[in-house]
Amino acid sequence: MQSPHEGTGTGSDVLVIGGGIIGLVTAWRAAQRGLRTAVTDPDPGGGAARVAAGMLAAVTELHYGEETLLGLNLASAARYPGFVAELEAASGQDTGYRACGTLAVALDTDDRAQLRELHALQQRSGLTSQWLTGRECRRLEPMLAPGVRGGLRVDGDHQIDPRRLAAALLTACERAGVVFHRAHADRLSVVRDRAAGAVLADGRALTADQVVLAGGSLSGRLGGVPADVLPPVRPVKGQVLRLAVPRTYAPFLSRTVRAVVRGSQVYLVPRENGELVVGATSEELGWDTTVTAGGVYELLRDAHELVPGITELPLTDTLAGLRPGSPDNAPLLGPTALPGLSLATGHYRNGVLLTPVTGDAMAAVLTTGELPPEARAFSPSRFSSRLSPAAAVASIRQEQTV
Ligand code: GLY
Repeated sequence: MQSPHEGTGTGSDVLVIGGGIIGLVTAWRAAQRGLRTAVTDPDPGGGAARVAAGMLAAVTELHYGEETLLGLNLASAARYPGFVAELEAASGQDTGYRACGTLAVALDTDDRAQLRELHALQQRSGLTSQWLTGRECRRLEPMLAPGVRGGLRVDGDHQIDPRRLAAALLTACERAGVVFHRAHADRLSVVRDRAAGAVLADGRALTADQVVLAGGSLSGRLGGVPADVLPPVRPVKGQVLRLAVPRTYAPFLSRTVRAVVRGSQVYLVPRENGELVVGATSEELGWDTTVTAGGVYELLRDAHELVPGITELPLTDTLAGLRPGSPDNAPLLGPTALPGLSLATGHYRNGVLLTPVTGDAMAAVLTTGELPPEARAFSPSRFSSRLSPAAAVASIRQEQTV
């Protein structure tokens, strides 16, 4: 039997292609603003959020050259408490948001020098973090290895459970009247030089006044999108482990603990419910989502160097997902050169963190046609200067005739 929100009608004001957390927050915000909204996805609430650890790490994941992205990350982190309160009220579900802070530690002299550099960059960027000695780190987190040489305490980098976030967004969407079409979108429909809907893998044709492409790492694969408008998004594989902390061990860790070990990031994210998420590899292997012995080995080896006691814990799950990487590691948000088509994709390592600000930005785009000031630097136009809008439309026509 069809659920009340399983789509039968084919027309809407907004069609969101992709029902991961970015597509869902876009749909929820659009529906809240009175737009008749539909989402197409074979498994809404799935995608990268099923694998992600859910760190909200604007400060600890700061990188050189990403100051503009830092502004968006901080804006989203600041919105998180209000966003969570609103979403939990709208859905009646807990999102697992935990304002626990983060401790980034160093295990050897090289790691410590790198962490010192990060601390200096954070200070130049006006961010709050505190340098701790190894002893001070262990006083905060007694399970840390005796060899920890120092660390950065970042009390503002929190966490959320991405699976619960996705589930809450799904319920909030359903309660707001969003219609779900549980199928892949094969092709964008273009009518009179404008995006006008999509054709689904099951043959259904959906129409909409505005289309948002929010397909995560798959966003660059939608048929019918002109080459210059197609987002330059690629899959970046991440393998993640889940362990269970028995109640008798609690509290095993009281905050997120992370480090760079021999050049690789490793983080341990302790949830309220006793789950401990250990991530993540970063691999440019195309569409491969195999969990490998090497990936699991490296994560366990590095995590064990940080927190030796993890070898006592049951290993409950191993997963691999695909981050939607973009050429500058920042998202693509807002209108494209093809009228009627907007993007909300390319969030790379920051999809969970950027969910609140993306929802707000896309709601502004869908109701006013423009990105709000904090999101303007992330317009897809920064990658599409090669073709004018007229040439982009001509390229679609050419594609449709072949
Ligand atoms: N932001 C964490 C990751 O992408 O692994």
